[in-house]
Amino acid sequence: MSGTFITFEGIDGAGKSSHLEAFVQWLRARGRDVVLTREPGGSALAEALRELILHRPMDALTETLLVFAARRDHLVTTIEPALARGATVLCDRFTDATFAYQGGGRGFDLGVLATLEGWVHPQRQPDLTFWFDLDPAQAAARRTAARAPDRFESQDVTFFTRVRDGYAVRAVAAPQRFVRVDAGAGRDAVWAQIERAAAQRLP
Ligand code: TYD
Repeated sequence: MSGTFITFEGIDGAGKSSHLEAFVQWLRARGRDVVLTREPGGSALAEALRELILHRPMDALTETLLVFAARRDHLVTTIEPALARGATVLCDRFTDATFAYQGGGRGFDLGVLATLEGWVHPQRQPDLTFWFDLDPAQAAARRTAARAPDRFESQDVTFFTRVRDGYAVRAVAAPQRFVRVDAGAGRDAVWAQIERAAAQRLP
């Protein structure tokens, strides 16, 4: 038995977080055993690495290796066991974020990222990815000063434009699993897009 692996992606401020919990409820109402998790993080070790990744200065290679190290532990301890028992795993970000942020945003070598992806999860890809796509200037306006920004949230619009382009490249490369959500629509309209795509694509 193998479960279903679903990911939410998008630039900071695109609004994916506000739909995660509603989507968990939607899935549970359809009888699914749901595990909600996130990256970087999702296991005790990976959550500890998350603190370093988000707050300590480091170069792009170190950042990339830590992101994949966290992912490896998350896969081994959380994601794969849940999928093996038939659960639906809903993950807030996964490897598409690495291609978008480290690859697009930081300009890190995409070939090295592909090699690391092949080492860390040679067989595993999400079954379904919701990409919350929003104009970077709009996303910046939505990122309020409610809390101190981390090392990514504090980047400028040109960084997030490259991140968005990184997502677009991944979406073109894997159209069978990517659903682009127009995150500039109102909250209800965004939810309607998620619900419609999920109803169509999930058995
Ligand atoms: P995010 O998912 O936005 O969580 P929160 O809503 O709590 O801020 O924060 C994670 C940050 O980590 C986000 O800015 C993107 C970054 N990130 C990477 O740079 N590479 C990755 O591979 C992942 C998973 C995240």
